[in-house]
Amino acid sequence: MKNIVILISGGGSNMAAIVRTAQREHWERAPGVRIAAVISNRADAGGLAFAREQGIATHVVDHKAYTDRAAFDAALAERIDAQDPQGHPALVVLAGFMRVLTPDFVRHYAGRLVNIHPSLLPAFAGLHTHARALAAGCRFAGATVHLVTEELDDGPILAQAVVPVLPGDTPEQLAARVLTQEHRIYSRAIADLLRR
Ligand code: GAR
Repeated sequence: MKNIVILISGGGSNMAAIVRTAQREHWERAPGVRIAAVISNRADAGGLAFAREQGIATHVVDHKAYTDRAAFDAALAERIDAQDPQGHPALVVLAGFMRVLTPDFVRHYAGRLVNIHPSLLPAFAGLHTHARALAAGCRFAGATVHLVTEELDDGPILAQAVVPVLPGDTPEQLAARVLTQEHRIYSRAIADLLRR
């Protein structure tokens, strides 16, 4: 059985979509995957309650309890690896995990760390993607699933979805339209990756 660990910082709607898809498609049979834990850097992350209700182990590793990024990432990696009997989860899924990760952390999970970013990368890496897409006059926006490398919001693209920008869109309206597509492509991309 392949264990995957999902990291969240907030509402966790992408995590919930992945959990629901895994349940509906019986991922424990094929591709033989178990969602071993959901870990948040914030105790108040809304998604933790959903995960608990689904019987998934939850953990909080609070970044504020650590003096620097390296110490936090080391503690986070230790907690992640403890979720797999061999200390080597098949996949670590960033689902609205709003922390920049150190190169050491990224190297430790090379090839098995995935992220979803709310823009059509390589456009609009970083924050405030929807406001920036609107300010640039983009006619289309979207989301990207990619393997994580040491560069922020970089790395091989696994899936993308495109949505139209509609006249008068606010960043919130555009974000909601993109999020619906995120839910669709993230679980698909994860299942495909785990079948490789
Ligand atoms: C999603 O839109 C995700 O793409 C974005 O945060 C949101 C989390 O929503 N991630 C990033 O901006 C990462 N830099 P969720 O908690 O409801 O899944």
